[in-house]
Amino acid sequence: MKKGESIAIAIMAAGKGTRLKSKHPKVLHEIGGKALLRHVIEAAAQVVPIEDVYAIIGYEAELVRKALGDTGVKFILQEEQRGTGHAIMCGREELKKYEHVLVLSGDTPLIRPEVIERLRDFHLQKKAAMTILTAVPPDPFGFGRIVRKKKGGKASDEVQAIVEQKAANKQQLKIGEINTGIYAFASKPLFENIDKLSTDNAHREYYLTDMAVLLGKAKQKVLAVKAGEMAEALGVNSRAELVRLDAQIRAAKCTALMDAGVTIYKPETCTIDADVEIGTDTVIEPFVQLLGKTKVGSDCRIRSGSVIENSAIGDGVLVRQGTIMDSASVHNEAIIGPYSHLRPGSEISEKAHVGNFVETKKVKLGKGSKANHLTYLGDSVIGAGVNIGAGTITCNYDGVNKHTTTIEDGVFVGSDSTLVAPVKLGKGSYVGAGSCITDEVPADALAIGRGRQINKEGWAKAKREAMAAAKKS
Ligand code: UD1
Ligand code: MG
Repeated sequence: MKKGESIAIAIMAAGKGTRLKSKHPKVLHEIGGKALLRHVIEAAAQVVPIEDVYAIIGYEAELVRKALGDTGVKFILQEEQRGTGHAIMCGREELKKYEHVLVLSGDTPLIRPEVIERLRDFHLQKKAAMTILTAVPPDPFGFGRIVRKKKGGKASDEVQAIVEQKAANKQQLKIGEINTGIYAFASKPLFENIDKLSTDNAHREYYLTDMAVLLGKAKQKVLAVKAGEMAEALGVNSRAELVRLDAQIRAAKCTALMDAGVTIYKPETCTIDADVEIGTDTVIEPFVQLLGKTKVGSDCRIRSGSVIENSAIGDGVLVRQGTIMDSASVHNEAIIGPYSHLRPGSEISEKAHVGNFVETKKVKLGKGSKANHLTYLGDSVIGAGVNIGAGTITCNYDGVNKHTTTIEDGVFVGSDSTLVAPVKLGKGSYVGAGSCITDEVPADALAIGRGRQINKEGWAKAKREAMAAAKKS
């Protein structure tokens, strides 16, 4: 990038977020299934390369680093949180290398890249030293108010000061235009003047907002530009705001999916994460959660109460009520549920059925195979056309290690069988109901591993009569 154009984005995210009354850092609280700060980083990374995005962290910094390191953002440590001005002071070494710095807050997750770009373009075009992104919310309480300079009796682009709620006089409290906490700065005047900030205020903090007055005194241009849509620039300061933004982001996701040809009944009851993809003509019933990187194909039906996370579902799949899936894949026209639990590594092939109270883990279930009732299948490779009877259990764990069960094509496992791994059932073999299978079953054989049935004729009748006689005497 040519000198004179270099732009960094600094995201202030070091605060504790006292008003959330949480022991966890505010910026790790989630909306739309993603940490607040992750939303902001993702928006920032669409405006400048991720190498030029800095997150200023402090409160529980290690947790934040761990949770968001994968984004590639650079971290700046603000060990003691002495205010928004102090946060930027802590980033001086890294940020002064850039010609301009866009400052965002880690707690404004709805900020869109287009709005950051608009702020940037306005700031560069007007050659301002500081440009403040402002909004006019229905209730300005709690926000810093924008005092614009008057020119010929009319408010101009230029800002005289930002006055915090606690410091504002009656006249200033009437101002509806507020500071969103998002700014653009030219680095040179910013860092030449930032040390003049003082802590002479209600919180005894260095306020970044005071740069407006300081830069004005230094004969630098301080401007304000309004964010088009107000909601996106507003931060999260309480739990109520957090869930309100969450609802907003999820409603927008459902609307986008419906616009793309997905039917979602009672969308307000569904929780669908931002990165979820769904094909056309799929129907999502009420109270469904589709989370993480889940992909659902076309013509599927996901019935109520299902919670599906990081899973891939093909086309024409029916997921019946109450199914739980985590990191599973389900191929075309399979039927899952009701009340199935597909755990990580479950791969259910085309037209296979997994039914009531069946749990699977690290399993490949072949084409058209069925496990319909009350079964545990773990660490298993199961071929095509297999029938797993009700109550079958793969005993995959010996207390120390996990072992594999191999079930070849066309096997029929009778109900209530236990298959003690490692074990293999050869192609086309049968297992008698109630068997405990510990040895390999050859192809096409019948294996029976249970006590032989004995019938004692008349035993029950004689016993009853003996008991009745004993009671009389
Ligand atoms: C700030 C603005 C206010 C504006 C509002 C918009 C100041 C003094 N006031 O107030 O004018 O209307 O945002 O939401 O800036 N942070 C740090 N280090 C610190 C302190 C804060 O990184 O030492 C971070 C916080 O984690 C947060 C952001 O800066 O992400 C804003 O801080 P916050 O305490 O929420 O400021 P507000 O009181 O909301
Ligand atoms: Mg705030």
